[in-house]
Amino acid sequence: MVMLDQRALPEAEVELECRCAADVAEAIRVLAVRGAPVIGIAGAMGVALAASVGENVDEAASLLVGARPTAANLAWAVREVRREGDEPDLLAARARRLHADEVERCLAMSRHALSLFEAGSAVVTHCNTGALATGGHGTALGAIITAWANGLVDEVFVDETRPLLQGARLTAWELERAGIACTVIVDAAAPALMAAGRATHVVVGADRIAANGDTANKIGTYGLALSAREHGLGFVVVAPSSTVDVHTATGAEIVVEERASDEISSRWRAFNPAFDVTPAGLIGAIVTEQGVLRPPYEPGLRSVDGARVGSELDAEASPTSPAVG
Ligand code: MRU
Repeated sequence: MVMLDQRALPEAEVELECRCAADVAEAIRVLAVRGAPVIGIAGAMGVALAASVGENVDEAASLLVGARPTAANLAWAVREVRREGDEPDLLAARARRLHADEVERCLAMSRHALSLFEAGSAVVTHCNTGALATGGHGTALGAIITAWANGLVDEVFVDETRPLLQGARLTAWELERAGIACTVIVDAAAPALMAAGRATHVVVGADRIAANGDTANKIGTYGLALSAREHGLGFVVVAPSSTVDVHTATGAEIVVEERASDEISSRWRAFNPAFDVTPAGLIGAIVTEQGVLRPPYEPGLRSVDGARVGSELDAEASPTSPAVG
């Protein structure tokens, strides 16, 4: 299994070869591959790889699921890929189908999200939610790119996303490749940008959405939501049904990954949570492939849960609303 090693971007495009489930689990753990939907796809492909090289599939699946705790997609995809059994060719076909489904979900989410922008929108986004993170054209970034292509977005502000710079390294690189000029800001600049009236929307992805709409995403998202509320900006979460976890009642139950101190400081002890939880009350809209949800989120989220491999995506059937509160 060959993947683009995201740690080397944007300086170099380096391929990483994985020959067994442990290689894939390690690639997920060290963020060579990262972003919720894409670690689900990598996990599913890791299971198929394990079966094809004769590894124990149960052991491979638990190794892969244990690689990172917060993104709902990983455990979901590792479970989904085995739904019809562990025969190697079947697993490989289902892993590819899971990937194809994520591509479709991204396109559907972008179509739905269009209704949330108006001409002249200026968007702040956080972390990386584009092709690198999804295998498709993106969740939040896909929505931003689509809105830009439709003439609705004039400016994209990219949080650098401390400490590993998924924004400054990966989102800026993806936007450059899409031909969209962006402005990178340090995370701490976002409130001042909003206070100056230079942004209209915050659009982010998600790693896990609890039944009540509380949403785990890259550390710093919660602060953006607080600031967006203070300054009257729309705060939008764009995420596929594979990120929705209705078995987790509220954000209090979400396990937030804590990463090594040395990602922040080689000298001092550091507190390094990879994610935070934004309360549903700060979220103006949640966009899934099935449409735009508004508070209260629970009934809508319960109906989008249950995404299945090969499910029909009915872009037209779901309600959308024109403005973000
Ligand atoms: O630690 P990462 O880089 O895997 O974190 C990724 C994020 O927080 C993304 O915003 C999230 O996965 C949504 S990706 C479509």
